[in-house]
Amino acid sequence: MADVVIGLDLGTGGVRMIAVDLQGKIIAQTTRSYPLLTPQSGWTEQNPLDWVEASLEALSNVTQQLDGHRAIALGLSGQMHGMVPLDAEGRVIRAAILWNDQRTGKAVEEIEVTISRQELIQRTGNPAITGFQLPKLVWLRTEEPQAYALLRHSLLPKDYLGYVLTGERVTEPSDASGVGCLNLASRQWDTDILNALNISPALFPTVVESTAIAGRLRSDIAARVGLPAGLPIVAGGGDNAAAAVGLGISSSNLNRGSLSIGTSGVIFAPYDRPIPDPQGRVHLFCHVDGGYHLLGVTLAAGGSLRWYRDTFAPQIAYTDLMDMAETSLPGARGILFLPHLSGERSPHLDPDTRGAWVNLSLAHTQADLIRAVLEGVAFSLRAALEAIGELTPVHQLLATGGGARSNIWLRILADVLQTELIAPKAEEGAAYGAAILAMVGVGAYPNLEAAFKTLPQGSNTVQPQANPLYEEAFKRYKLLYEALKAVRWRKAERH
Ligand code: XUL
Repeated sequence: MADVVIGLDLGTGGVRMIAVDLQGKIIAQTTRSYPLLTPQSGWTEQNPLDWVEASLEALSNVTQQLDGHRAIALGLSGQMHGMVPLDAEGRVIRAAILWNDQRTGKAVEEIEVTISRQELIQRTGNPAITGFQLPKLVWLRTEEPQAYALLRHSLLPKDYLGYVLTGERVTEPSDASGVGCLNLASRQWDTDILNALNISPALFPTVVESTAIAGRLRSDIAARVGLPAGLPIVAGGGDNAAAAVGLGISSSNLNRGSLSIGTSGVIFAPYDRPIPDPQGRVHLFCHVDGGYHLLGVTLAAGGSLRWYRDTFAPQIAYTDLMDMAETSLPGARGILFLPHLSGERSPHLDPDTRGAWVNLSLAHTQADLIRAVLEGVAFSLRAALEAIGELTPVHQLLATGGGARSNIWLRILADVLQTELIAPKAEEGAAYGAAILAMVGVGAYPNLEAAFKTLPQGSNTVQPQANPLYEEAFKRYKLLYEALKAVRWRKAERH
């Protein structure tokens, strides 16, 4: 029977695993979920042992579906930025703190007092950001000194899973560049930054290339899940970089990026040099192919629509909401929506800003409100795309995620972003990208470009049409953010 590789994506909602043959056909797949812990407002944590249990169950399940196919490698991908703190014996000291956790405001300030924001951006591609791992370490040192005293290793989520599977502590540049202290030019930990912060570089794992074999499957785990002991585990990539690989995006074609509309909206633009936006408005990370990528994130994209439905229309199906939006007009008959329901990342990096609908009148209907939500998300993404465009123009975006399955949202996005959108007929996300990285890692293909021929074919293209109403509305949108951000609402929120 044919060889397969396993791709794993350790997401926030759960783990997704697929087995793919070397022609790209999916032979087996499964998912397992685990709880999200929110011990305090703004805190998000997960128990790494829940990840392990779910992943081992998923691995056993996929193995059972293999039906005689032979697994030759496993590739890792997962949620970025989280911190898994380990003691000298490799035991988890406390729950992992996740990418969307907001507790580290003070730690971010402390980092930027020690190393200027400008220098951080130049060296690492980003300023200090609340969700990144480095501020979490500074937080741990101040707030939980007993835990920090035990700390010997700090791993990213997928790398912790890799450690459990192989016993090796290894990371790779796409995920490591989201820690906050990877030097983008050398693709290694920046010891100047770490020394200035008095944090030991020995806490961090070895950085290998994304297609490198991080280690081999331990025999006890192999016996439990039914895979061969010694199976190569390939380092893989952070979820956004791996998802880009799953769409065939590499830094050898700078024209084509991706736009994903899930809970958050993410624009991924491949880039060929470690030169960041001087203001740090969009992230710059390493890509898995030796190049780089820019990332613009709108925190509440599909999340804004979900909030709308949960709050105002729980009985109405999403498809019906979209049909209603069609009955409004471009420009939502004058209503503007700011989607900053949980603060905003790109281009503002402003955890305190909040959302709004403005310009409501008695004549407006639910259709206008929904349409304004769809348009507001598109405006937020356009603000991020404009910052990206100052560094590298992107001419086509592969549109993925749940929101990209809506024709009206795709049309709005193409017209507002003024960019051609290509919606693939099939997309398998980060797990598929991890599988491709594993194929290259064990030499089934000589490089990523060659492996891209396994990608699912077929797509639907949406060409942008110019609409002066959107241009006008986008200008007002930008003014609105500036006007509202100055208001300090947070105190009122607490009452
Ligand atoms: C990227 C980011 C998220 C996580 C979610 O910067 O924070 O996309 O990787 O999984």
